[in-house]
Amino acid sequence: MRDTGSDPHVSALFDAARAVRARAHAPYSRFRVGAAVLDETGAVHLGCNVENAAYPEGVCAETAAIAAMVAAGGRRIRAIAVIGSGPAMTTPCGGCRQRIREFADADTRIHLHDPVTDRYETMPLEDLLPRAFGPNNLREDI
Ligand code: THU
Repeated sequence: MRDTGSDPHVSALFDAARAVRARAHAPYSRFRVGAAVLDETGAVHLGCNVENAAYPEGVCAETAAIAAMVAAGGRRIRAIAVIGSGPAMTTPCGGCRQRIREFADADTRIHLHDPVTDRYETMPLEDLLPRAFGPNNLREDI
């Protein structure tokens, strides 16, 4: 299920994601991305993409935000907002979907900015990563 939202809490997450997007290090693709993760305590953690002259060594905004969350002590992703560049909605890459899965549930809300409408779409992680392999595959109590 998918819905187009205007929740002020989500808008605040996007304000944070938009601000950190401006700090992206993206000299190669020139494609800036910002991500804001809301954790289980209500704290917000930010990340932008950080590219590298050795191309594969770059990291995505979502990965950076998740690393910031873990370093700050957060352990669960309650929601994540992603804002990219260009004419189309930026959806998390496959690797980032899996990294989100590590700290989120099938129904965790993923908020994606649509540059065409300047609104966001919300979808559960399950829509982006169906039948995911996750921590529960390795241990039943996770
Ligand atoms: N990128 C992200 O940071 N997040 C996404 O969801 C999609 C792609 C980055 C990786 C690279 O620095 C640039 O965008 C172009 O792919």
